Amino acid sequence: MRKIAVAMAKGGVGKTTTAVNLAHGLSLAGHRVLIVDCDTQGQTAKFLGVAPPFGLYEFITGTDARGNPVAKKETLFPARENLWLLAGGINLVELKNWLGEQPREIRQAVLAKTLVPRDGALDYLIFDCAPGWDVLSVNILMAATEVLCPVALQGPALEGLKTFFGYLMSAQRMNQELQLKYVLPTLFDRRTRHSSEIYDVLRRLFSKQICEPIHYNVRLTEAPSSGQSIFEYSRHAAGAMDYHQLVRRIRNDA
Ligand SMILES: Nc1ncnc2c1ncn2[C@@H]1O[C@H](COP(=O)(O)OP(=O)(O)OP(=O)(O)O)[C@@H](O)[C@H]1O
Ligand SMILES: [Mg+2]
Repeated sequence: MRKIAVAMAKGGVGKTTTAVNLAHGLSLAGHRVLIVDCDTQGQTAKFLGVAPPFGLYEFITGTDARGNPVAKKETLFPARENLWLLAGGINLVELKNWLGEQPREIRQAVLAKTLVPRDGALDYLIFDCAPGWDVLSVNILMAATEVLCPVALQGPALEGLKTFFGYLMSAQRMNQELQLKYVLPTLFDRRTRHSSEIYDVLRRLFSKQICEPIHYNVRLTEAPSSGQSIFEYSRHAAGAMDYHQLVRRIRNDA
């Protein structure tokens, strides 16, 4: 099973868009995929047009907000064929408070310890990380083995990148299996020189990890409002082609 964290401290760079479309693309190709939303915004469920009653909070604590027991399998929401969701949401604030009170061993590694699917039950675990850096981000990087970093080719794109890669390196000291595997340029606008310049810098810095860019595509902006992945909303759109290419690259590395 491959465990891929879609992570970048900067907000609005296309983490959720990438996690959802990658996960759905892999499931359409016949792989069994679990997407884990680690964000208090709980966007992953909205992007998929579902409203699971339980999620990551209940999965880890084993209870609902009132303290009633919840079985692990009830927390895994079947979002599509071959695609399950462990939803995020506002109750992850509680989870972070709870984690903050735990001894270091549990605080940093609870996800790695609890998220152990039966052999062969899943082919891919995709983590949709929150912006910023907190106790849950650390947990994800303890549970994942590959990191995919979306970098928006807009505005001050390279700002904060060094700090974020510093975080990644400190996580790698705790989880030796963790690799920065993919750098994914997003929101690529070929009409602006700025986009191409940042893309060139990324290609130079990450010659092995760099992926074909995801172009700015209005269909990708619209799809979440209808609760559909790009493959459902507009499968011939440029955004669908771009994400299809990413799915292919990741499958080819298996
Ligand atoms: N390639 C793209 N073309 C057009 N719009 C896009 C593209 N990628 C993402 N978007 C839009 O940009 C916004 C931010 O994307 P998204 O929510 O995926 O970013 P994020 O990194 O998950 O944000 P956050 O850090 O808040 O979790 C969304 O409205 C999304 O629909
Ligand atoms: Mg997001």
